[in-house]
Amino acid sequence: MKIVITGGAGFIGSNLAGALAAHHQVTEIRVIDNLSTGHKANIAHLGVEFFEGDIQDTALLDQVFRGADAVVHLAALPSVPRSLRDPMASHHANATGTLQVLDTARRAGDLHVIAASSSSVYGANPHLPKHEGLTPAPMSPYAVTKLATEAYLSAYHHSFGLPVLPFRFFNVYGPGQRADHAHAAVIPKWIDAVLAGRPVIVFGDGTQTRDFTYVGTVCHVLTEALLRRIVEPHPVNLAFGTCMSLLDLITELEAATGRGARRKHTASRTSDVPHSQADSTRLRAVFPNVTPVPIQEGLRATASWFQGSTTGNAVT
Ligand SMILES: NC(=O)c1ccc[n+]([C@@H]2O[C@H](COP(=O)([O-])OP(=O)(O)OC[C@H]3O[C@@H](n4cnc5c(N)ncnc54)[C@H](O)[C@@H]3O)[C@@H](O)[C@H]2O)c1
Repeated sequence: MKIVITGGAGFIGSNLAGALAAHHQVTEIRVIDNLSTGHKANIAHLGVEFFEGDIQDTALLDQVFRGADAVVHLAALPSVPRSLRDPMASHHANATGTLQVLDTARRAGDLHVIAASSSSVYGANPHLPKHEGLTPAPMSPYAVTKLATEAYLSAYHHSFGLPVLPFRFFNVYGPGQRADHAHAAVIPKWIDAVLAGRPVIVFGDGTQTRDFTYVGTVCHVLTEALLRRIVEPHPVNLAFGTCMSLLDLITELEAATGRGARRKHTASRTSDVPHSQADSTRLRAVFPNVTPVPIQEGLRATASWFQGSTTGNAVT
């Protein structure tokens, strides 16, 4: 099986490339990435074919997709604050980029397209847990680009019969997720702070909750979806209903790193939703064999990656 990963030099993409490279049914992995947030070093040791370039370059996409069986489309500018600063850039990369990927997949001969959407599409809808039947209420340009991603997948399925599967990722964490940039996620930022003896910065009182999913679990689901060629035009939540407050996360991080954490509270961010938790009914029905890696185990693997004692690829 020949698989293309767009955004494969990024956090989730490079972990997926590592998981697929170890799979006997996968004969070839191609990565296309413009290295805007990803790093070539993430995949250098995996024996994948790397194409440096943008998913909006259709001639390059034609070349990369030729003869492939499936595409896992992860390339995107992934941050909400970034989309507030430059909505057009997010739109071009995430919405227009997805359209280019779908159209190339169609021309290349109906490749199976699995794509990453985001829990941010639920936005202002207060209902918990978040089930896929809820009305989306995006609150940021980023969330709109992810809703457009899902809608384009559905449209290409219904208009052209393209086999698609949109997933809504929640808070994915694990080895390879970096802390050294302005839009770093909470887990890498806090592990880095704890290990360096700096205080962890908590926006608000820390009682907000998130549904954290270990990247190895995400890669397990994506691999099964590829190998079983799961086709589903409606989005599927890719999270297991974990409901952890940020204050509890600090306690778990102390256990995972073996270090004490100092907390510093600052004002809440307006773009943050108070609670995010997936209804995982559909995910569990389609992937009954996937058991999520427990958060304690995932945090230990992540902390040890930060301490430099692993190769940077997640266990599944
Ligand atoms: N990490 C999470 O918690 C999370 C949550 C919800 C959704 N997602 C989605 O999952 C996907 C992967 O996220 P990630 O955390 O690995 O982010 P990441 O930034 O590490 O990876 C994204 C990759 O896409 C590449 N890229 C960006 N624009 C591109 C373009 N125009 N052409 C080619 N390559 C491009 C980047 O260089 C990077 O390597 C994204 O679509 C993101 O929106 C992630």
